[in-house]
Amino acid sequence: MKPFIYPSSIETARALILHLIKIMIDEPGKTFNIALSGGSTPALMFDLWANEYSDITPWTRMKVFFVDERCVPPENSDSNYGMVRSLLVGVVPIDYENVFRIRGEDRPDKEAVRYSKVVESQVPMQDGWPVFDVILLGAGGDGHTSSIFPGQEKLLSSDRIYEVSYNPNNGQKRIAMTGCPIINARRVIFLITGRNKAEVVEEIYTSGDTGPAAYIAHHAKNVELFLDDYAAANINGEEIPD
Ligand code: 6PG
Repeated sequence: MKPFIYPSSIETARALILHLIKIMIDEPGKTFNIALSGGSTPALMFDLWANEYSDITPWTRMKVFFVDERCVPPENSDSNYGMVRSLLVGVVPIDYENVFRIRGEDRPDKEAVRYSKVVESQVPMQDGWPVFDVILLGAGGDGHTSSIFPGQEKLLSSDRIYEVSYNPNNGQKRIAMTGCPIINARRVIFLITGRNKAEVVEEIYTSGDTGPAAYIAHHAKNVELFLDDYAAANINGEEIPD
């Protein structure tokens, strides 16, 4: 697990964008299957990406997927796709055919099955699991990641790619990428900023399987943490071998 720590959330976001662009430039000709998370943290990064780095991004070599979705229509302010559309994919020259959204307005159990099939048909499979090139994750203060909340740990070892989950704080249903496809990705990047995330970053960094985010961080391959100083306040910043 490798931490990258910057003085502010904006510098962290810029560094992560440049990192992603470099990853794609380093493998010319390859199409990158990238799964994005929602929530509030990546909004700044998506906005900067569209406004400052669009010209140097190989959009034609990107396929965009979603790690999770709230079960609401895209127009709802809770929609992860709605946020990504308004800040990023609806603004930059990416072909809409290469943006694969989770339909939050559809019946959750059916949509989890449908979207799992979409991923199976688009992303190279190995040993029964899709191998995303990059999965971008966030972490909640309670230790959740994707939409796998504490108490929903069975989703970490589910035999499905996506499952229905719910936010225990308000009961809202969600569709969540499960643990195995995350662990099988080529690269997993956490973007975590802000003082209120210092404890969860400490937990992710120092503990093993205490919560969903920590479990993923300790079991996935090539895990990178993009943090600001506030989120990194309780860790020493040394790389932990995978
Ligand atoms: C979501 C997510 C979720 C998110 C964390 C952090 O839909 O909410 O994909 O896993 O990454 O909850 O969210 P914040 O950035 O809002 O703190």
